[in-house]
Amino acid sequence: MKIDILTLFPEMFDGFKSESIIKRAIDNKKVEINTCNFRTFSKDKHNKVDDTPYGGGAGMVLMCQPIFDAVESLRTEKSKVILLSPQGKKYNQKKAYELSNEEHLIFICGHYEGFDERIKTICDEEISIGDYVLTGGELPAMILTDSIVRLLPGVIQEESCTNESFNGNLLDYPTYTKPREYKGMKVPEVLLSGNHKKIDDWRKSEQVRITKEKRPDLVESKYSLIKQGIKKNVRKITIDDVKNIKVTEIKEKENKKYKVEKTYELIAITIFNPKNLHGYKLKGKSSDSLTKILIVKKEFYTKVAFKNVSKKINILSQRLKLALNDKNNDYTTKVLSEAQILKDTIIACYSSYLSSTALNEVINKIDYLVNEFVKIKTTNL
Ligand SMILES: C[S@@+](CC[C@H](N)C(=O)[O-])C[C@H]1O[C@@H](n2cnc3c(N)ncnc32)[C@H](O)[C@@H]1O
Repeated sequence: MKIDILTLFPEMFDGFKSESIIKRAIDNKKVEINTCNFRTFSKDKHNKVDDTPYGGGAGMVLMCQPIFDAVESLRTEKSKVILLSPQGKKYNQKKAYELSNEEHLIFICGHYEGFDERIKTICDEEISIGDYVLTGGELPAMILTDSIVRLLPGVIQEESCTNESFNGNLLDYPTYTKPREYKGMKVPEVLLSGNHKKIDDWRKSEQVRITKEKRPDLVESKYSLIKQGIKKNVRKITIDDVKNIKVTEIKEKENKKYKVEKTYELIAITIFNPKNLHGYKLKGKSSDSLTKILIVKKEFYTKVAFKNVSKKINILSQRLKLALNDKNNDYTTKVLSEAQILKDTIIACYSSYLSSTALNEVINKIDYLVNEFVKIKTTNL
């Protein structure tokens, strides 16, 4: 991979390129990182690169010409040009994976008040590293470069990448090192057990627990995507709305009707025309918004959930097989991102219905399929 960084302050990258993993990646020819001072492309006799904004206002604006010419001199068919800007799409690990598959990246670092708007026409993407404003695009360019380079094959141990935070939208599991006890705080027993299966299971469940606790948005965002899929005419009702609802069952015996009131654990709800309602009356806070309740035993739902999940994993496995023959990697990227979404969905929507063993089993299966796929794909390169 080659990364060209267009900046007015190339020296800022000297330290970045000469330390630690980035230095090693450059030395081992896993990546080539060049800085290009776009001031050298200015056609102005004083090498000017910015000017005052039309319409007035504070600050200076980067002009089109030096940046257009600098990009032109570097761009090939395989280049992806990225403008670093607080107005861009927010960067995340998924984007880092996506960009790590590119052959050539060109980052444009802004400064001062920002860019002439027309510069955006030569960029493929606009990326922000977060909702705050920095003085220039140099730190964002370093952040993108660092997160991408460490994903390149052979830069760091593959296992480190696959285990860490944000893979499959989960945060990393807790880690400990020597001593076993420090100031009364003990390392969890399971990590000292030597039982790798148990350790793996513990780590997976800790990942789910920690993500739900610290970054519920990571798992909920996928859930809301699924919710959007629900038909428009169906009101959004969560299981919590109707959890302890009382259900009056009307039974008939020898032509006599009698009522049996029970509190069911409601697992699934469906809504349909109230005219079709027979046999059940609903009591409870949300009963007015319900027309039908489907009452399912937890064991039954667990079985159905496992079956559904297994079906989805089989489809994923078939799609990964197809992706083995994919030449230009577009399909591969799509299927790998589907694998991540499947993991997120299982965690967001099925984790309360599957036992922790079943949950671990399905997550492990997806990880195994993806890892095997990546192994075969890289040996075939
Ligand atoms: C002071 S900022 C310009 C901000 C601009 N006036 C605005 O409000 O959108 C100067 C440059 O720093 C970079 N920059 C600042 N914050 C950034 C962020 N959160 N993500 C990516 N780049 C950023 C961009 O290249 C930007 O052009």
